[in-house]
Amino acid sequence: MIPFFNLQRQYFKDKNNIDLAIQDVLQSGRFIKDRKCMEFERKFAEYHGSKRCVSVANGTDALILALKACGIGRGDKVVTTPFSFFASSEAIVRVGATPVFADVEMSSFNINPEKMESLMTKKIKAILPVHLFGNPCRMDEIMELAKIKQVKVIEDCAQAFGSTVGNKKVGTFGDIGCFSFFPSKNLGCYGDGGAIVTNDEEAADKIRMLANHGSKTKYIHEDIGYNSRLDEIQAAILLEKMKSVENDLIARSSIAQMYQELLKDLDIILPSYADGSFHSFNQYTIRTENKEKIIEAFQKKNIGYMIYYPVSLNKQKAIPWALYRDETDCSNAEQLTSQVLSLPIFPELKVDEVEEIAKTIREVLT
Ligand SMILES: Cc1ncc(COP(=O)(O)O)c(C=O)c1O
Repeated sequence: MIPFFNLQRQYFKDKNNIDLAIQDVLQSGRFIKDRKCMEFERKFAEYHGSKRCVSVANGTDALILALKACGIGRGDKVVTTPFSFFASSEAIVRVGATPVFADVEMSSFNINPEKMESLMTKKIKAILPVHLFGNPCRMDEIMELAKIKQVKVIEDCAQAFGSTVGNKKVGTFGDIGCFSFFPSKNLGCYGDGGAIVTNDEEAADKIRMLANHGSKTKYIHEDIGYNSRLDEIQAAILLEKMKSVENDLIARSSIAQMYQELLKDLDIILPSYADGSFHSFNQYTIRTENKEKIIEAFQKKNIGYMIYYPVSLNKQKAIPWALYRDETDCSNAEQLTSQVLSLPIFPELKVDEVEEIAKTIREVLT
């Protein structure tokens, strides 16, 4: 059996330090947004070279609060990708705005800046690119367009902690970068968690206030907010995991390179990324017309796999299209949903497991 993802392997790798970090919090008797959270926010901001970090309860809240801090609300429209986890569009709808989908590039799976330009009407107040699977979007072009059109940019970095374009980390190109610490992310905690980074101190203050019931001073409420706070146990775990996260990113990268080498001559399309950018490979997703056959072989051998994503966001029924419909061409995203197959990738995946996965795909295709 080869798991798609395995958190026990990760925990046992660093069990002693994780256990001590958790015990430290238990013994302190302080559980919500206290010294561990503050220390984590300092370290996370420093890692990104950002002025500020605000930790929140999860990545979805990070997006919602970032949109709110940018003043996005009812009647506004936000250009985003139709090929992503649901939360990136859910957050837009949640604040009362409408997602307007710019189709993706088949090669990178990411929003295509060339498709965005014609969508930039006066109602568009922000762009929300998603660095899908850890592959950085074409941020220079997105920022250029945002500057011309004077709209905000909120980066969804949930899957892309550690990804860079040149020397710059994703999350630091736009106005606000949003992160998820869901356990399977590149930097994951052992529960839910999220954060934003920004150089906009006003936006950071607003997010901190909104995430704490709209309050800056205890029992004085300036706004209707949320209860969206990271807890101390998760912050302590994240601080511990930050110490080895660069090694974890290197491990993901070398597994991705192994796949590239082992699969390069087969009739499948491997992930590609732009020169000068670092793809952090939260997911390793191939494109194939033989998905069903490969899945059948995986199931026989008990090899894990996922379909990220089987339905594009423009086709999701949950979004109330009667109110929010703004139809655009999403044919690439729709086509991808039938071709994509994500293979196991996580730092603790073993070399012989990668070889076995590649061998299984080879047997199907040759
Ligand atoms: C692209 C993307 N955006 C947002 C989120 C939401 O993060 P969370 O699950 O922490 O709310 C996720 C989580 O899977 C994601 O993959």
